[in-house]
Amino acid sequence: MTQARQHSIQVVAHRGASEEAPEHTLAAYRKAIEDGADALECDVRLTADGHLVCVHDRRVNRTSNGRGAVSALELAELAALDFGSWKDAAESPDWRDPSLTSVLTLERLLELVADSGRHVELAIETKHPTRWAGQVEERLLQLLGRFGLAAPTSPDDSAVRIMSFSARSLHRIAAAAPGIPTVYLMQFMTPRMREGRLPAGARIAGPGIRIVRNHPGYVDRLHRAGHRVHVWTVNEPEDVELCARLGVEAIITNRPKQVLSQLGRL
Ligand code: G3P
Ligand code: CA
Repeated sequence: MTQARQHSIQVVAHRGASEEAPEHTLAAYRKAIEDGADALECDVRLTADGHLVCVHDRRVNRTSNGRGAVSALELAELAALDFGSWKDAAESPDWRDPSLTSVLTLERLLELVADSGRHVELAIETKHPTRWAGQVEERLLQLLGRFGLAAPTSPDDSAVRIMSFSARSLHRIAAAAPGIPTVYLMQFMTPRMREGRLPAGARIAGPGIRIVRNHPGYVDRLHRAGHRVHVWTVNEPEDVELCARLGVEAIITNRPKQVLSQLGRL
């Protein structure tokens, strides 16, 4: 079992239990909740008719039987597509069930979490928000408001956090909903980041695992600067071990069950 520092690390299911089930589907998120994940990660994009859907890529080509950009398709067109069969359907008949593998709206995901019967947090990533000049964040906060999640009494009490590689997107969230914690995602190390400073008042740093591996001392620097550290995408046991040793606050993984087991929580 991996030796963690004296706090419990949050295990976040990246796109759901996406190693075992097709990413960003109800099947993947249900599995993650069943497996005991503490939180669910999802990417959100706006459809042509203004709905927020959980899709990673700009286009639907990789993860469905359709083609085209999410932003050019209406929700009804996306709902006609199969987001399950691209993953080896031989592994589970559920992935042929349209009620589990059609396009997932953020609204449906919020309902799933609300009905889960236990505390499950959500880490929502805004994808390419600059294209929409604020509409992604506006719709997102409207939707969170309907579920009573847009105005937590303090960031520590928030069941939702919003992540982005875009500082502009995080600025918009901070201006409109200061109680919601934000996570600045990082793929590459820049001089400003090296100092442990985050843009847009982000409380949480979201470095990719390669940054953590290649820059010893960086997690400590972020901690000393007062930030929490949520690392993505941590799938290999040696990386889980490293993150636990460094005392990160959250591990974002495609394999929530295996990570929980390695951390001695199953
Ligand atoms: O959780 C952050 C991580 O998801 C960012 O990368 O490309 O998987 O959205 P990506
Ligand atoms: Ca993501």
